[in-house]
Amino acid sequence: MSFHYWLNRGQTGRKRFVNLSGGYHGETLGALGLGDVSLFKATYGPLLMEPLVAPSPGAWQTSTKETAYERAVSCLAEMERILAENATQVCAVIIEPLVQCAGGMRMYHPYYLTGLRALCDQYQVHLIADEVAVGFGRTGTLFACEQGEISPDFMCLSKGLTGGYLPMSAVVTTDEVYSAFYADYNSMKGFLHSHSYTGNALACSAALATLDIFENQAVLENNKTLAMQMYAAVAELEEHRHVGEIRQTGMILAIEMVKDKASREPWPWEERRGQVVYKYALEEGVLLRPNGNVVYFMPPYIITADEIKLLGRVAIEGIERASRA
Ligand SMILES: Cc1ncc(COP(=O)(O)O)c(C=O)c1O
Repeated sequence: MSFHYWLNRGQTGRKRFVNLSGGYHGETLGALGLGDVSLFKATYGPLLMEPLVAPSPGAWQTSTKETAYERAVSCLAEMERILAENATQVCAVIIEPLVQCAGGMRMYHPYYLTGLRALCDQYQVHLIADEVAVGFGRTGTLFACEQGEISPDFMCLSKGLTGGYLPMSAVVTTDEVYSAFYADYNSMKGFLHSHSYTGNALACSAALATLDIFENQAVLENNKTLAMQMYAAVAELEEHRHVGEIRQTGMILAIEMVKDKASREPWPWEERRGQVVYKYALEEGVLLRPNGNVVYFMPPYIITADEIKLLGRVAIEGIERASRA
């Protein structure tokens, strides 16, 4: 849609996107082309777009001892370099605000969002916020972008939109973008996407019911309590010899398992330590689905205090088992 916007505005040279390393936006060819997951790229590479990849502001992955804020600042400098060199060919920058989920639960400082919005304005490119995973209260605010006090040009919504009960997604945009598609029929500037299930009535009902709950119940307030309980349930792992970091953004808590705590050396992926945790959790009646060496909780907001304690116990025991495997 961003590409088409620029086309309708007469800027035909804007064909590229900027993404973040470790980003994930889905698995259709277009979405894969905007992501940066090495296995997908290695497999489907010849079919994919080639975005300009900016460094991930996720603080854990850096070997240096930058704080999250310092990491945000240095990554913004690199983003500025990319935009300064390429802005006239770029349609948009696409990001997952605050947490890059599929890429390893990489969490970053909200200042990155603030700085990135300013850079996109400065270089006149769109900012696409993929809030598919982090939207609807997951990070503590209704939308993650709020924490950087920004508004993107496009916001992609799904998952939490229907409370996860029915498949539905939406892309929200600005009046400025809308107006570029609003023209006489024979100008052929109309928006060119549609789907069999666009506006599906049942899914819309589920979405409206979910929005009612956000409006009428103290979901975000309750989530603060749940988030604290989530951390309390696993806090003892801070000292674990094979836990490099516990990080949390609202209702996402991630535990980074490592081979060596001091050097942050990861377990080799071939050893599938996460799989050991997964199997143990299943035996205990809990569905934990680690992402490589990262064990994470991203529970539904109806989770109870007892269920959080169960999650914590199973994660602690599973990680101990994986550490001895
Ligand atoms: C940030 C983000 N964007 C997009 C998607 C893709 O959504 P779908 O699988 O519905 O295409 C996901 C899925 O996990 C996601 O986490």
